[in-house]
Amino acid sequence: MDILNRPDDMIRITTPELAEQYIAEQVKIIKEQVGDKKVLLALSGGVDSSVVAALLIKAIGDQLTCVHVNHGLLRKGEPEQVIKVFRDEMKANLIYVDATDRFLDKLAGVSDPETKRKIIGGEFIEVFAEEARKLDGIVFLAQGTIWPDILESEAGIKAHHNAGGLPEDLKFELVEPVRILFKDEVRMVGKALGLPDGMVYRQPFPGPGLGVRCPGAITRDRLEAVRESDAILREEFAKNGLEGKVWQYFTVVPDFKSTGVKDGKRTFDWPCIIRAINTTDVMEVTVEHLPAELIDHLVKRIIAEVPGINRVLYDFTPKPPATVEYE
Ligand code: XMP
Repeated sequence: MDILNRPDDMIRITTPELAEQYIAEQVKIIKEQVGDKKVLLALSGGVDSSVVAALLIKAIGDQLTCVHVNHGLLRKGEPEQVIKVFRDEMKANLIYVDATDRFLDKLAGVSDPETKRKIIGGEFIEVFAEEARKLDGIVFLAQGTIWPDILESEAGIKAHHNAGGLPEDLKFELVEPVRILFKDEVRMVGKALGLPDGMVYRQPFPGPGLGVRCPGAITRDRLEAVRESDAILREEFAKNGLEGKVWQYFTVVPDFKSTGVKDGKRTFDWPCIIRAINTTDVMEVTVEHLPAELIDHLVKRIIAEVPGINRVLYDFTPKPPATVEYE
């Protein structure tokens, strides 16, 4: 079987049975490719890398080492979930690196969006490379490349974000067990592998994480306000049956303050902006119109529970003209 290209006649994986069949085939392929060698994986907790981890654990067990780098810009509960699912439940060989201080120190005072992205991306590779160098005998690097990544890089739409970036001394052979799958198929396979729904149906989350939702120079207190308000939004969406129905939803806390009043005293705090959008291709995006009662409830909860917020706004702007993220 050609493991690099999706066969033209490949049946779309739409049922648990087809997912099981794919898993069985891939386990065989991985075993043949890897033999008794060791494999390394950067496990972000996103759908693709999580499914790759679960497939590899099934195929080669502790020949796989996963590295989860917490850059301090993850959502509330994410690192804990990765540790619980992969280390505690799936018994994976998981190295957890809390690099929060390292990232936030480097980002301190940096307000330019592209510079922020470069720092986050560059530092991520450095932390991962440091961990890789500590390990002996790694031959393969596993990646969560999926078929749209290949199509988009072939079409010149975006550079294939995987595969690259690691320094010269770290050249590994690639293992890409979901390379020929579309996203919905990756989810099917993840579900069949027993990953929790919260992971399998996770909304898209950008690599630079909450960093792009804390516009301008990131400060720890404003970042915490983004993280806490995002957690409230996700909790309320789940309670109200909107999880998995709305394509992407999150909060942004911009770097300016306005006057408010609380308990008879003047406050001078940040606003929290809610964004909830739907799309099929992310080129054009429409805004989800939430029920008024839910908005009222969100306003009350965010103001009461998130320090530093005295105003909640809703972003009604489609894309174009606005992008999904704020920077
Ligand atoms: P924009 O803001 O460009 O977002 O309309 C479109 C989609 O891409 C995600 N996004 C990113 N994902 N790294 C990523 O991995 C990034 O730097 C990045 N910027 C935006 C965004 O969340 C949305 O789903």
